Amino acid sequence: MALLEIENLVVEFQTSTGPFRAVDGVSLKVDAGEVLAIVGESGSGKSVSMLAAMGLLPWTAKVTADKMIFDGQNLLGMSGAKRREIIGKDMSMIFQEPIASLNPCFTVGFQIEEVLRIHLGLGKAERRKRAIELFQAVGIPDPAERLNHFPHQMSGGQCQRVMIAIAIACNPKLLIADEPTTALDVTIQKQILDLLMRLQTEHRMGLIMITHNMGVVAETADRVIVQYKGRKMEEADVLSLFESPKSDYTRALLAALPENATGDRLPTIGELFNPNKTVEGAA
Ligand SMILES: Nc1ncnc2c1ncn2[C@@H]1O[C@H](COP(=O)(O)OP(=O)(O)OP(=O)(O)O)[C@@H](O)[C@H]1O
Ligand SMILES: [Mg+2]
Repeated sequence: MALLEIENLVVEFQTSTGPFRAVDGVSLKVDAGEVLAIVGESGSGKSVSMLAAMGLLPWTAKVTADKMIFDGQNLLGMSGAKRREIIGKDMSMIFQEPIASLNPCFTVGFQIEEVLRIHLGLGKAERRKRAIELFQAVGIPDPAERLNHFPHQMSGGQCQRVMIAIAIACNPKLLIADEPTTALDVTIQKQILDLLMRLQTEHRMGLIMITHNMGVVAETADRVIVQYKGRKMEEADVLSLFESPKSDYTRALLAALPENATGDRLPTIGELFNPNKTVEGAA
């Protein structure tokens, strides 16, 4: 049985100009211990589809699906209270906007210890010890001191690391990592990716990795979903995707990589892919 199984997910936002369909019939499966990468250009519905799975979209979003099962539990129609027991514990997410997802009114130490208190019921001393370990694991220097800081006292990269520490605090069964390393420098990026991959192998954690970085995809993913305008264009194991991409859009994505570029300028996806026209020279 898959850890997460979603069939025909549709997300529509109510906007002043009428309904807007951000996700249009996406289906996916992730097993325990598996890494699924989701790639696709900005606005293709990657974050929205995963926020829908987490149940974290605003009320303006209408979410429907034929199936949404996590760890044997039906997420559709589940009560808010039950869902909150799962979220942040067995199923957690590293959000794309680290600063916006931390509460400015509380210290980062309070915020991580709160997760450990609510979901794991740890006592005060244990919580502090575990929080320090987690900060160390994500490369935050002077962790004991840092726990007393508020988000505004930390840099964007440090806030991202705090959020990663919070997301992995309870050893989730499934971690959704939405561009987890974009605000970080290359050394820290590698450290975070190594940490996520270690959790994935040691705890058989399922990992959904949303990324623009095809290098990260090649290094981490077992399977890849390519999304375009809210739809799944292609799904393949990582080797097949790089060696023999099936859709024109995937070929365009790969052709837009710096290492595949010819000439003195990088082509854009828009130049390489026109949905009404087949791509020339992108294979
Ligand atoms: N709350 C909202 N109300 C209306 N439209 C929204 C809302 N949130 C997202 N959208 C729209 O849904 C579409 C998909 O957005 P989403 O954030 O999933 O893209 P993405 O693939 O994650 O892009 P990126 O790579 O830039 O993070 C976009 O067109 C976006 O403008
Ligand atoms: Mg996004």
